[in-house]
Amino acid sequence: MKALLTGGAGYIGSHTAVALLAEGFEVTIVDNLANSSRVAVNRIESLTGRNTVFHEVSLLDASAITAILCDEVPDVVIHFAGLKSVAESVDHPLDYYRTNVAGTLNLLDAMVASGVRSLVFSSSATVYGEPVRLPIDETSPITDAANPYGRTKLHIERMLQDLGAADPDWNIALLRYFNPVGAHESGEIGEDPNGIPNNLLPYVCQFAVGKQDRLVVFGNDYPTPDGTCLRDYVHVTDLASGHLAALRFLNDEKPGVACFNLGTGKASSVIEVIHAFERASGLALAYDIGPRRSGDVPASYTNPDKARLQLGWTAVKTLDDICQDAWRWQCRNPDGYVA
Ligand SMILES: NC(=O)c1ccc[n+]([C@@H]2O[C@H](COP(=O)([O-])OP(=O)(O)OC[C@H]3O[C@@H](n4cnc5c(N)ncnc54)[C@H](O)[C@@H]3O)[C@@H](O)[C@H]2O)c1
Repeated sequence: MKALLTGGAGYIGSHTAVALLAEGFEVTIVDNLANSSRVAVNRIESLTGRNTVFHEVSLLDASAITAILCDEVPDVVIHFAGLKSVAESVDHPLDYYRTNVAGTLNLLDAMVASGVRSLVFSSSATVYGEPVRLPIDETSPITDAANPYGRTKLHIERMLQDLGAADPDWNIALLRYFNPVGAHESGEIGEDPNGIPNNLLPYVCQFAVGKQDRLVVFGNDYPTPDGTCLRDYVHVTDLASGHLAALRFLNDEKPGVACFNLGTGKASSVIEVIHAFERASGLALAYDIGPRRSGDVPASYTNPDKARLQLGWTAVKTLDDICQDAWRWQCRNPDGYVA
């Protein structure tokens, strides 16, 4: 089986590439390296002892994408590529619509041209907006997302649903990730954010090694047990195995368009994450409590039953595993992937 990964040099894509290669898949990566490094691809290959085919190409280059798809004709495309910063999307919405929505359209045109009809799409729990009930399951209402990034995911999901309705040959899995964190247990690949990390755990890692000056908890007056926000932190290697489960499901069940929440079902607070990180690193982290950050919902966590029952997939790694692996990655790569 051959899988083509857009954005395969990125954080989740690189871990999924390792899992696919370990399962015997042939892997082609298409990535313009806007938020990743060629070094990640080298590490994928050295970790697995397998080669990949790598194309440094943007999804916005429609003719190049079509040429690659027609040449490679993969069995399945896993579409990770895109821009993912909520804050940046508020300031630069057109960049987000162009890369995420128009980039996906180019990819779909290329899939049509090459006869490839099997797709796994990286969606996000952000499509649920402010959840109306907890835990969130796949029947929870999809509300208008709170920011342009979330809206691009909604538009793409709807586009894919329309495509599936128009042509029953398509099989598409929409995977709505909760909070992907952690790193490969080898410490060789992990998250390497550009600039100041937006997400808690990469920020905590950088604070722990002195790359950030202050650790501020955004609000401790939420209606949660310790007053800080609750999130569903899912280890990135669990997420990678969720993609393998989705591929098997598409292949075996030919479901048309199906969506799945990928998370653990457990809610952890910001303070719990900081304490787990302290256990993993042996460091004591001095943090301050600051005001709430706009756009943060008090709690977001999944009911993982649908993925368990239909994909046969369950996240197995704990918050302690997550922090140990993130810390190992950070210590071995304090400056991320340096070429
Ligand atoms: N990490 C998260 O917290 C999270 C949560 C929910 C959903 N997602 C989604 O999962 C996907 C992967 O996320 P990630 O955390 O691995 O992000 P990432 O930024 O590490 O990976 C995305 C990859 O896409 C590439 N890319 C960007 N624009 C491109 C273009 N025009 N052409 C080709 N490649 C391009 C980047 O270089 C990068 O390697 C994204 O679509 C993201 O929106 C991520």
